[in-house]
Amino acid sequence: MNDNPQEPKLLEHDADGIRELDNLLPRWWVWLFYGCIAFAVGYLVYYHVLKAGPLQAAEYDTEWKAGEALKSAALAKFEATITTLTPSQDKAVLAQGQQIFLTYCAPCHRPDGGGLVGPNLCDDYWIHGSNYVDNLKVIINGVPDKGMLTWRGILKPSEVQAVASHIYTLRGTKPPNPKPREDQAPKPTGPSPFE
Ligand code: HEC
Repeated sequence: MNDNPQEPKLLEHDADGIRELDNLLPRWWVWLFYGCIAFAVGYLVYYHVLKAGPLQAAEYDTEWKAGEALKSAALAKFEATITTLTPSQDKAVLAQGQQIFLTYCAPCHRPDGGGLVGPNLCDDYWIHGSNYVDNLKVIINGVPDKGMLTWRGILKPSEVQAVASHIYTLRGTKPPNPKPREDQAPKPTGPSPFE
């Protein structure tokens, strides 16, 4: 570095007519530069030599665990109060519930709730109970043996309530070609093809 007060000084060399000035760097810049080096040394010793602080992955892990704990606490609270819940009639909640239904449930229950793989949700026959709370429980727990997925941890408690409230509005509607009631579904007749 050139500390000559007669600044700037033109350096001797020349590259195709291009000349270089040896400017004195501003002091603040130089101190910032030394500061960065000192910080880097401190950082290296703190995080990588002494291992005194958590690295990114560990920090992520801690926050993720805190998030999961919050989520399970909210779920536990929801499930503890589930029997006191009633279907919402709020238009915004019902619209959200319909959106969720069309996205996640319609492939099995049909967009109008008439039933496909999953049962008809519009008639007055219910496999797992006809109350709103029965519906909430089925949505949360699923019926794994029968192909109804569990939505615990996938849908938020508010989303489960929204979609169940939407289903509640389907009751008594008469979609075309509904899936027959499970207790009245025609039983297979005639000899088995394997006999
Ligand atoms: C992979 C297909 C599938 C998806 C997706 C699905 N269900 Fe189901 N659902 C079923 C089946 C099959 C049953 C019947 C379970 C049984 O026979 O016990 C069922 C049963 C139900 C019942 C109970 C019906 C009764 O008669 O008691 C409700 C309520 C329900 N589902 C709501 C939902 C909601 C809400 C969603 C979306 C968040 C959803 N289902 C997504 C297949 C599905």
